[in-house]
Amino acid sequence: MFDNLAIAPPDPILGLEEAFKNDPNPAKINLTAGVYRDETGNTPIFRAVKQAEAEILETETTKSYLGITGAPEFAAAVQGLVFGPGSAVLAARRAITAHAPGGTGALRVAADFIRKANEQATVWLSQPTWPNHPSMMKAVGLAVQTYPYFDAAGNCVDFDAMMAQLHEVKPNDVVLLHGCCHNPTGADLSIGQWQEVAALLGQRGAVPLIDFAYQGFGRGLEEDAQGVRLLAEQLPEVLIASSYSKNFGLYNERVGALTVISRNAAVAQAALSQVKVAIRAIYSSPPAHGARIVTTILGSPELRAGWDAELTAVRSRIHEMRRLFVEGLHAGDRSRDFSFITAQNGMFSFTGLTKEQVQRLRSERSIYMVDSGRMNVAGLTRTNLPLVCEAIAAVL
Ligand code: LMR
Repeated sequence: MFDNLAIAPPDPILGLEEAFKNDPNPAKINLTAGVYRDETGNTPIFRAVKQAEAEILETETTKSYLGITGAPEFAAAVQGLVFGPGSAVLAARRAITAHAPGGTGALRVAADFIRKANEQATVWLSQPTWPNHPSMMKAVGLAVQTYPYFDAAGNCVDFDAMMAQLHEVKPNDVVLLHGCCHNPTGADLSIGQWQEVAALLGQRGAVPLIDFAYQGFGRGLEEDAQGVRLLAEQLPEVLIASSYSKNFGLYNERVGALTVISRNAAVAQAALSQVKVAIRAIYSSPPAHGARIVTTILGSPELRAGWDAELTAVRSRIHEMRRLFVEGLHAGDRSRDFSFITAQNGMFSFTGLTKEQVQRLRSERSIYMVDSGRMNVAGLTRTNLPLVCEAIAAVL
């Protein structure tokens, strides 16, 4: 049976991580996957995480299974972070949250859930989007279409084109939106634009699926949640896939969550039962450790304040790298305006480099970024930044 298998192409992001590892050039620079690095090029463990782990090691009494949707304390912590205090959705018990292995796990459960709710649903994805989005939706047999999102000439959201396409969505279709720090463009909707999207989706009877992987990496934990909260308040049904890979640095612990908002508390319980069916058939129940860390940190005012401060420092370093990157590019090529890079949010910069230019950077300089021209700004350091700027100037 296996003899007929063709070799699949490498993953467009994680495949490059592998290629980077295998590159023998000691001067290689990795700007591919969305993984934060500090000034020394290391991906640090948050101090708050280490402290929480020490506490867990001390107090943990069993490794028995969690329930299918994970620990209720974790679900409550996730909801607090997503919705903030005083949420009417929470007060009305319209939201249920299931712990999932990473944001990807949450999206995959969401895909199964969507198919169960409406197997005719089309899932609308921004063009461009994270390459794993179409793969996951297609994996469960859902139809996928795209809506235009990015104006490459203006380096901003092409909101008119986006809205024109979204006027075409059918009732009970699903529109995947990036809660903040759009991956790969770094171009986010303004609050006014979120408002217009909410009104249009309400009018069309479509359901947003929000990929919320970078809360705290744009402008701040609360600021980055504004669009998500606005949709949650205004629409009867919303799906939210949260990830704690980036904002808690828990990449390999695989910790995320799927939140489903339904019209009322009774429908929410039906949704919960279907989420359980989906999870049981994929991975049965979630891994505990990462979620315990998040719950411990968010449940302790002291650890939470420490984590918040560390996350603020992470965000500031990224902002600083953006500023220095623009300065460095400008020094190499005064004829171009690179200022759009400082307006982008989160880990990524959509540099505008072509696939050919990106491939030259890789083959000639061992500088790795995604073929789309997406660069992980959080991989820049004061040491590698001049080399990257000089190499980009050379391929431009
Ligand atoms: C990315 O977009 O680089 C990250 O979300 C990592 C991944 O899994 O692709």
